[in-house]
Amino acid sequence: MTDILWLAGDGIGPEIIDQAKEVVDVLAPELRQADALIGGQAIDEMGTPFPDATLQAAQSAKMIVLGAVGGPKWDQNPPELRPEKGLLQLRKSLGLFANIRPATLYPELAEASSLKTEVVAGLDIVIVRELTGGIYFGEPRGVSVLDSGEREGFNTYRYSETEIRRIAKVAFEMAQQRSQKLCSVDKANVLEVTRLWREIFDDVAQQYPDVSLSHLYVDNAAMQLIRDPKQFDVIVTGNMFGDILSDAAAELTGSIGMLPSASLREDGLGVYEPCHGSAPDIAGLNKANPLATLLSVAMGFRSSLGKPEKADLLEAAIQAVIKNGLRTPDIMSDASDAGHPALSCVSTEEMGQAVIVELQKLQVKNTGSL
Ligand code: IPM
Ligand code: MG
Repeated sequence: MTDILWLAGDGIGPEIIDQAKEVVDVLAPELRQADALIGGQAIDEMGTPFPDATLQAAQSAKMIVLGAVGGPKWDQNPPELRPEKGLLQLRKSLGLFANIRPATLYPELAEASSLKTEVVAGLDIVIVRELTGGIYFGEPRGVSVLDSGEREGFNTYRYSETEIRRIAKVAFEMAQQRSQKLCSVDKANVLEVTRLWREIFDDVAQQYPDVSLSHLYVDNAAMQLIRDPKQFDVIVTGNMFGDILSDAAAELTGSIGMLPSASLREDGLGVYEPCHGSAPDIAGLNKANPLATLLSVAMGFRSSLGKPEKADLLEAAIQAVIKNGLRTPDIMSDASDAGHPALSCVSTEEMGQAVIVELQKLQVKNTGSL
């Protein structure tokens, strides 16, 4: 059994995963690690975005860390040969139905957000996104030719009661652990599927009398998230709405380069990945922010490896580098030009190495207790 399977993928994936591996070698050198191919990288080498060998390696791992998939090189490929398909197959074949995307703002990064500091300061919300159903996977789907000769594209938005109940359980339990507030996002004024979603959520709510459940339509939720994000604590929604709202939530925190995620199933197996994509425009330039990946690794140590003390240590090291003023370009705020000389713009590698230095300091401090 492998402890950590690395799927570096495309674009900035390999360079951020390199940093994560170096950090893990210091944090937990005893772990068994392996690598496998996914996405465009796998298409180029194996002719498919999700090779069987990758599925097998994933099935025998306790936790999987993914960099990113996709890039312009494969944009014209047919749907089955797109890098994104590899990621979707990974999620689906492992049954990773619960996607947890925390959006937490480090106080030092408040000025990197495009919103006013007072709107985002102290932000700490979690989006729970259903990940293996909804319009992403609904059948029938495709492009057909109508009698008139013109083409018509179609996808199907469906959710079964079972799928809704199991994501509801995850969301209510998450709310219980936090501030007992859950907001479910749907489009129940138009879509039957989300009317059922709302009905099931109201039903499940009866098992969680300590949690206060509210409902919002997705258009209103998008607006509220930008207007007053701190009104939320846990937000739960379906696959596509979650995809969209989590990018918006990421921007609230200053940069999508800071946002980790976990995709889980009931038994704790998880894929941990940064929410940002493959960023082909900066790939290979040593400019990408490795912190979302490192924060994802921390989530994995907590949820899949049962090593919360290591997760705490890694998060503390990340907090320290932020506090010390180290910034990759994506989180470098204008404030640096306006008399904050303490901020220094660093590369992917420098950021990774700085985290290692802080980790080592903390490990020395904690020797004996770890
Ligand atoms: C995400 C991404 C993926 C998604 C893509 C790359 C398939 O945007 O994880 O949010 O749409 O789920
Ligand atoms: Mg997305």
